[in-house]
Amino acid sequence: MTLIRNGFILLCLIALSSAASVDSYEEAKIQLEEYIQNKKTEIDPRYRPLYHVAPPVGWMNDPNGFIYHNGEFHLFYQYYPYDSVWGPMHWGHTSSPDLVNWKQLPTALLPEEEMCFSGSAVSEGDTMILMYTGRRDTDDEPFFNESQYLAYSDDAINFQKYEGNPVLAESPNGSPDFRDPKVWKYSDDYYVIIGSKTLDNRGRVLLYKSKDMKSWEYLTVLGESDGDMGYMWECPDFFELDGKFVLLMSPQGLEPQGDRYKNVYQNGYIIGSFNYDTNEFVPEVPFQETDYGHDFYAATTTEANGKRYLLAWLSMWEVPHPEDTDGWAGKITLPRELSLVNNRILMKPVEAMENLRENIAVDENVGSDEEHEFGKAVELLVDSDLEQKVDLLLEGRDGGGKVWLRWDPGVRKVVVDRGSGDIRQVEWSPIGSHTWRIFLDASSLELFCGEGEVVFSSRVFPLGGWKLTNQSPQPLRIKAFNLKRSVPE
Ligand SMILES: *[C@@H]1O[C@H](CO)[C@@H](O)[C@H](O)[C@H]1NC(C)=O
Repeated sequence: MTLIRNGFILLCLIALSSAASVDSYEEAKIQLEEYIQNKKTEIDPRYRPLYHVAPPVGWMNDPNGFIYHNGEFHLFYQYYPYDSVWGPMHWGHTSSPDLVNWKQLPTALLPEEEMCFSGSAVSEGDTMILMYTGRRDTDDEPFFNESQYLAYSDDAINFQKYEGNPVLAESPNGSPDFRDPKVWKYSDDYYVIIGSKTLDNRGRVLLYKSKDMKSWEYLTVLGESDGDMGYMWECPDFFELDGKFVLLMSPQGLEPQGDRYKNVYQNGYIIGSFNYDTNEFVPEVPFQETDYGHDFYAATTTEANGKRYLLAWLSMWEVPHPEDTDGWAGKITLPRELSLVNNRILMKPVEAMENLRENIAVDENVGSDEEHEFGKAVELLVDSDLEQKVDLLLEGRDGGGKVWLRWDPGVRKVVVDRGSGDIRQVEWSPIGSHTWRIFLDASSLELFCGEGEVVFSSRVFPLGGWKLTNQSPQPLRIKAFNLKRSVPE
């Protein structure tokens, strides 16, 4: 597949014999794909996901450019292929017909004078346009410059950077932190929001408008920290959901408060109303975390067929990434479908996840102290009496990581405990279903409570498949499915 494509690119290059710089960029792309194919054979598969998007080799962070284009979903990501730690950013690329089965595509953007930081995509007929932050090193304080760049594609595989880059050279207040453009079209205009900060270090999101994505008019500050909401707002997103508007972002610098904000950085949202005539966003519900797990950042959304889908980086900055000794690091959460109920975003795994069920592994009342063993890819449906304690241990069949999922009827909190006090917990008041839906893959756990009013996404590193032990004082009604592989090895 890749050999054929590389051969095709090579032929095109010879046929076109274009300018030297184009040649060398195209040549670098070909060499990179060869490097990835070769390097892949050295990866240790013990923690490789079977149904989550992960980089073929090397490092991944934020999801980028999530878009439905010509009948397929495209997902890009912050990518450094040459090591399993962060390095000069590329854009990795995958696509999917259904948000479940993913195929690897050639790296979409390579750094040149600029590193290709986070951004987004729009679909215009057969053309896909990427808008991303070009980050350049500079000689003077603060030694970096962030401005906004474009790249175009007519085949959704090969992307050409716009020769007029950057299209947005600087922030209105001169802050060098000016990144992660999220672009969308409304009526005949493009809008973009960009993460930035005030000169006294309060996170903010800026709103711009354009007819062509090349020339932009600054409109307003869409949202801004009052001083308690962090020093930088990264990866903003803005969308309508069930009659309200949602400003989603990844604030940095929130202080831990009780059970909240325990990760290094946060992801969450403000619900409000917005008027395209005045460009005013009026917050109505204060900031809430999107997901309560240990590893969730840089969430981003797209809309298709009238539905709003969200996914995020299933990892975190400044924490150990045990898979990095295996030649890769980072993965993306399951895509979730969003709805707004009682001033809260509900997240459910996309419906097509049910197509991954291969067979039923367990379907019974599992008594106290009873165990069951599974492979690496499992979906569990767990029902319990919420007036009694729940204590479900999930661990590696051959050792490695452990995690306890607990419910305490006294305080009515769901707890995800990775041991040694590494706990995330939150109150849960079911609005409908009382079922826990749990997705286990090699090196991750996602717990969806009830209708998706409480969700945890956490990395766990079991070895040799999963083992479940019911440590609750009550039997648990458990249905388990083995899941099929849906991503490349
Ligand atoms: C970043 O570089 C652009 C030129 O590409 C320049 O116009 C802009 O002023 C620089 N931004 C800062 C904050 O210095």
